[in-house]
Amino acid sequence: MTILHIDASINGEGSASRAITRSIVDQVKGANWGEEVVYRDLAAEPLAHLTLDQFADTSVLDELAADVVVIGAPMYNFTLPTQLKSWIDRIVIAGRTFRYGENGPEGLAKGKRVIVAVTRGGFYGQASPAAALEHLETYLRGVFNFIGIEPEFVVAEGLNVSPVQREESINQALGETVRLAA
Ligand SMILES: Cc1cc2nc3c(=O)[nH]c(=O)nc-3n(C[C@H](O)[C@H](O)[C@H](O)COP(=O)(O)O)c2cc1C
Repeated sequence: MTILHIDASINGEGSASRAITRSIVDQVKGANWGEEVVYRDLAAEPLAHLTLDQFADTSVLDELAADVVVIGAPMYNFTLPTQLKSWIDRIVIAGRTFRYGENGPEGLAKGKRVIVAVTRGGFYGQASPAAALEHLETYLRGVFNFIGIEPEFVVAEGLNVSPVQREESINQALGETVRLAA
């Protein structure tokens, strides 16, 4: 069993999404003996923007063969960090992770677990005024559905509202990671 662990936050040790992905990986590892973890830090070692030449390089796509993929996804400017978008651009490949058939698009990356730690400075629940600006969780759900995966989300939001709110939201998310081991 292999876990692919991906972080994208630019906030180093102060990052909430990094703390949550670490906890998710620990939980999943604890529940499965002998897990191998492949780690990719997209902020420390960014992938280049997509070019036609890069389609020939399948090294990033090969890592997606992992049984469990854990992704840290902080909200930057209402969507995902550009570093994470560059990674998505390497894994959504026609003929490899999806294809168009008689019945429309078909995902080919089925059979793996994707767990995403979403962190947001504000609140984006359905009733909140900013709900229409939520282009992170909705985007990631859409793109993973497209390649045949139903992702699971652990969300910590309101992190920049106040220090108390930040601590409460992060603790709640860390608590939620415990159920992911099941
Ligand atoms: C460049 C940048 C842009 C941000 N844009 C948003 C935003 O659009 N909406 C929001 O709610 N929070 C925004 N935030 C706040 C982050 O989502 C929040 O600080 C979160 O904790 C980031 O996760 P991290 O600590 O793992 O980096 C932004 C933060 C940064 C650094």
